[in-house]
Formats: sequence, structure tokens, C-alpha cells
Amino acid sequence: MVTRSLLVGSGAYLPSRVVTNDELAQTVDTSDAWIRERSGIEERRFAAPGELTSDLAIAAARRAVEDADIDPAALDLIVLATATPDHTFPATAAKVQAALGAFGCIAFDIQAVCTGFLYALATADAYVRVGQARTALVIGAETFSRILDWEDRATCVLFGDGAGAVVLRAGAGQGDATERGILSTHLHADGRQHDLLYVDGGPSSTQTTGYLRMQGKEVFRHAVANMAQVADEALQANGMSIDDLDWLVPHQANQRILDGTARKIGLSADKVISTVARHANTSAASVPLALDEARRDGRIRPGQLVLLEGMGGGFTWGSALIRL
Ligand code: ACO
Repeated sequence: MVTRSLLVGSGAYLPSRVVTNDELAQTVDTSDAWIRERSGIEERRFAAPGELTSDLAIAAARRAVEDADIDPAALDLIVLATATPDHTFPATAAKVQAALGAFGCIAFDIQAVCTGFLYALATADAYVRVGQARTALVIGAETFSRILDWEDRATCVLFGDGAGAVVLRAGAGQGDATERGILSTHLHADGRQHDLLYVDGGPSSTQTTGYLRMQGKEVFRHAVANMAQVADEALQANGMSIDDLDWLVPHQANQRILDGTARKIGLSADKVISTVARHANTSAASVPLALDEARRDGRIRPGQLVLLEGMGGGFTWGSALIRL
């Protein structure tokens, strides 16, 4: 018998304030047409003043716990992926733990920017598989609106705020690919690309939070190549082909990156879950937000094979192949 992490619940939360491209164009030198054409984004959500990453995370976590129908006290582990924590320390995961009443369980943050949710999921999966946790909560939560430079139109139009979460529970099986659970995870990083996508501040360097900086064209090129590579890697590792896949839930950076990746791996566009038009890029929150939406609207169904994947600053990239 082998132990596998079963995905038994999901939840999401978006701040109520919708910001359209036209609204942005009132203060930024841009247009709805430019943003749509280059990114596919139509609108995004921004957290209200005083609404923090932890507030978004707690709301998403409560919905995931409810969906999984578990008592939060049963949680052994909370892993929260964010690049926009409430504070430099302690971890935002600790605030979530307190709000849920899961006192005493392990709680920490993970920082891999837009790949953060995949890093967090892979970490939680490892805890479950070695028996150090039976029930785990994995969250991606961000308030990227707080680190955008409103003078830099090439970046500030691309991002939004939100949170998504999943609950994992240990399940025993034969280890067959037809059985439910996380089949494999694959993580990568290449720190040589650090300066193509970064924030120009931090406690040790400037003692400020800093703003997001990006060389868009270079990021685009790497994003398609890395997302395609890690998709192929996941399928190969499980002896599967692209035809076995029911759904791809990629990091929602840009519709053109989603389309380019699907083309490169030979997947038809109607198997790609896309929320980028309404959410924009919510970094670590984008994959669990998209996954939760597609589970709740009935597109992703139990038993289907789903590939989650992400790519972000670092560079980092990764995937998780899951039988739902
Ligand atoms: N509105 C209007 N014009 C703009 C805007 C804007 N918001 N931003 C840039 N422009 C102008 C530029 O000034 C430039 O004008 P010029 O030709 O007169 O100099 C022109 O548009 C073209 O600019 P480029 O930067 O060459 O535009 P490009 O076609 O590369 O598109 C974009 C930019 C959308 C950022 C693209 O490079 C991209 O999608 N990159 C991927 C980045 C991404 O999605 N990152 C997310 C984070 S990473 C991740 O999550 C994987």
C-alpha cells in the first residue's frame, strides 16, 4: 500500500472591488484595447484599504475547509504561498491558523512568487506521503496591487488580488495512476534569471517593500518554454500522453502565454481553464482560484486527470499531476 494526498476540498475568495481596464485608463496611460490584445485581461480585483493578504487567505481557507467537510482542528499542516505577506514576519500562515482555530499545527509560508502554489502543494504532498501530516491546507494568497508601480504601465495593468486554497487528506492505495490523488509533482528554479522579474526592495536590501519590475518580452519567452517543459515532464513521469489529460490549470499570467503553452504541448484550447480575463495575474493565488472555479461550476469532475502548473520570478516553475 502507498500513501497519496487526495484533494478533498477547495475554496477561493476575491475582493469585492472590480477594476476594469477602462477605469485603469483614467489614471494610467493605457487603453482597454491594448491590455486586452496583449494580455487577454478585461478586469481584476483589488483588495479594499485595510484588507490584507491574510484576510483573503482566511476567507478562501474557510471555504476549502467547509467544502472538504472537515473540522479545522483536524489540520496538521498549513502551507501558504505568498510574495505579498502581511508582515516580513511572522508567516501569514500563522494568522490563518489562529483564525481557523487549528492551534498547534505546523504553519509556514512559502515564497516562489507565481509558482508559489505549486511549491506549497508539493511540500504539503511530501509531508502527507511520509506520514508527517494526514490533513493539510494549502493556500495561495496575494495582494499584488500593493507592490505595483503606477508609473510603469507595462506592469501595473497585468496584476490583481485574490486567494485560493485546497485541502489534502492522506489516502491509501496501490499507487496506480487510475486511483485518486496527487500522482507526482515537479519543481524547478533557475536563479540566474533573477533580474528579469523581481521586486526592487526588501528588508535586507532597502528596508522598503519595493515595486515589481519585469522585462516582459523575456519573461514571456521563458514562461511558454518552461510551462511546456514541466507539462511534458509530468506526463512522461507517469507514462501518460497529452491525450490522457482532461484539464490543464495553468498559472494565469497572460492569455497569450496560456495559448502558446497549450499549442506547444499539443493540447486543445478547450481543455485549458482560463480566468485571466476576470482575475488578471494573481501570482500564487491564480492556480487555486482557477481550480476552485472549475470544480464548482462542474467542468472539473471527480476521477478526471488534471495538470496544475506555474511559472514565476526566480525563475521558478513547476507542476502537479492530480487524479481528482
Ligand atoms: N498600455 C499601452 N501601451 C503600453 C502599455 C500599456 N499598459 N505597456 C507598454 N506599452 C507600450 C510600450 O511602451 C511599447 O511602446 P513603444 O513601441 O512605443 O515603445 C509598446 O507598448 C510595446 O511594448 P512591449 O513591452 O514591447 O509590449 P509586448 O508586446 O512585449 O507586451 C507584455 C508587453 C504584455 C508585458 C508582454 O511582454 C507579456 O505578456 N509578457 C509576459 C509577462 C507576464 O505576463 N508576466 C507576468 C508575471 S510572470 C508570470 O507570471 C509568468
